[in-house]
Amino acid sequence: MKIDILTLFPQMFQGPFSEGIFKRAIDRKLVQVNIHNIRDYTHDRHHTVDDYAYGGGAGMLLKPEPIFEAVEKVKQDFHLEKGAKEPPVILLSPQGRLFSQQIAEELSGCIHLILICGRYEGIDERVREHLATDEVSIGDYVLGGGELAAMVVVDAVARLLPGVLGSDASARDDSHTTRLLEYPQYTHPEVYRAWAVPEVLLSGNHAQIDKWRRQQAILRTLKRRPDLLDKAELSPEERQLVDSFKKAKATPEVLK
Ligand code: ADE
Repeated sequence: MKIDILTLFPQMFQGPFSEGIFKRAIDRKLVQVNIHNIRDYTHDRHHTVDDYAYGGGAGMLLKPEPIFEAVEKVKQDFHLEKGAKEPPVILLSPQGRLFSQQIAEELSGCIHLILICGRYEGIDERVREHLATDEVSIGDYVLGGGELAAMVVVDAVARLLPGVLGSDASARDDSHTTRLLEYPQYTHPEVYRAWAVPEVLLSGNHAQIDKWRRQQAILRTLKRRPDLLDKAELSPEERQLVDSFKKAKATPEVLK
């Protein structure tokens, strides 16, 4: 997958993509990330990227021209290379659709993504209307710009690409991929400060272990994020278990 990121602050991307899983994925050419400075697509002496809003109001807006030109250039380069179809052009902004594991999965099926990081007080509306094909927010809070949001999106998408994680199972069992929160996990030592690892995990009985993990995942989701359970794929028995907990208004002991 090729990812082109348009930003006014290319330096911000140096850390996250040069460590760990991500670096390995880049080194192994599973993903290619190109950072483009929007300022490089200006033509005036001062490299102007922002200007006052028509109609007044505080703050500056990102101008449309350098952003359109940057997107057109990266599309052109990619098309020449691959003869591919139009990639999604995603504007990161607090006004976008809320990013989720489903959106990460959807984007992980693309061979090319273009991300535009908004900055300052806003962006000329024509970018939103005539250039971006999608607008994504990573949460209901306002960041200084789209850069951190772009890193979040790229991280969540890249780890879903085949071969990026050590084992495909680790992505598959994640919280949110299963639409349930993850079950509790333990490593050595078996007893730490008198806190013992649950007996069942030491039993070697894999059917029992799977059952326990599934129940724990459901109970944890019910306790912390009951909203997720509506979309989770549960067996009729599991659904019944959840419903009975929901109906019994008193919090069951297991949920404490
Ligand atoms: N830019 C500023 N805030 C943002 C958010 N919450 N998500 C995506 N981009 C943003």
